[in-house]
Amino acid sequence: MKITNKVYVVTGGGNGIGRELVIQLVNRGARVAAVDISEAGMQETVKLAGSLGDKISTHIVDITDSAAVEALPEKVIAAHGSVDGLINNAGIIQPFVRVVDLTFPQINKVFDVNFTGLMFMTKAFLPYLLKRPEAHIINLSSMGGFLPVPGQTIYGASKAAVKLFTEGLHSELLDTQVHVTLVFPGAIKTNITVNSGIMTQEQVDKQDMGQFKMTEADKAAEIIISGIERNAYHVFVGSDSKMMNFLVRLAPKRAAKLIFDQMKSLLK
Ligand SMILES: NC(=O)c1ccc[n+]([C@@H]2O[C@H](COP(=O)([O-])OP(=O)(O)OC[C@H]3O[C@@H](n4cnc5c(N)ncnc54)[C@H](O)[C@@H]3O)[C@@H](O)[C@H]2O)c1
Repeated sequence: MKITNKVYVVTGGGNGIGRELVIQLVNRGARVAAVDISEAGMQETVKLAGSLGDKISTHIVDITDSAAVEALPEKVIAAHGSVDGLINNAGIIQPFVRVVDLTFPQINKVFDVNFTGLMFMTKAFLPYLLKRPEAHIINLSSMGGFLPVPGQTIYGASKAAVKLFTEGLHSELLDTQVHVTLVFPGAIKTNITVNSGIMTQEQVDKQDMGQFKMTEADKAAEIIISGIERNAYHVFVGSDSKMMNFLVRLAPKRAAKLIFDQMKSLLK
């Protein structure tokens, strides 16, 4: 779907990839409803948008709060007149530990945000999107949603759930005017570890991430927006995600071992 003159909702618009999506969308002539639990993050996004900041409305909503999510479409319509696109970007990671060492509250939180929150948002906005001449739902899974990453097993399972949910939605909406795009980012340079409450900024700064080649968040947003414009089915963000998509099909066990060898230093 085109970007210009469309209204997009972007969850997680207060940081990282979501922030870059919001800024690039308004620069391309869209209007955006940014949704986040971080008020400070969204204020910074609006500030960074400069003179285009007035094209952005901000909504402090926890996407796991079904009542708040249900009330959101009318608020977005009140702010912008309509809604054409939903980018389900908000997400969190889990502590870098094995499943045996995770608590149930930690497990539930990851699923609540990454899967249930995304599903609430989709359910709340879909009836409105179905009434538009053209509309688009874009869901962020992860390279970890098709490839096992040790120390992120529950995160990966939640992103695999996003994958099948989104592909099922795509099929169900094939005879409608609602496009559905599924995004698999590889490693992206954002502050997701701190934002997810997994590490402090100090701990992150001490960590040597030199061995990981990461895609910049603005580049990731550019690739996602190009996928939206092409009505792409799948969008792989970064050479790591593209490469592992082939390797995991060709030699799944070898692909899993390769990622284990790369990630084992992060496992406590
Ligand atoms: N960074 C990566 O390497 C990477 C890789 C693969 C996939 N992803 C996915 O990309 C998406 C964006 O990640 P990012 O790296 O930009 O993260 P980020 O931490 O920079 O931004 C995520 C934003 O989501 C918001 N958020 C968290 N929980 C929320 C909730 N319950 N309700 C509303 N907002 C909430 C946070 O406040 C934050 O502003 C996530 O879904 C993530 O899983 C990221």
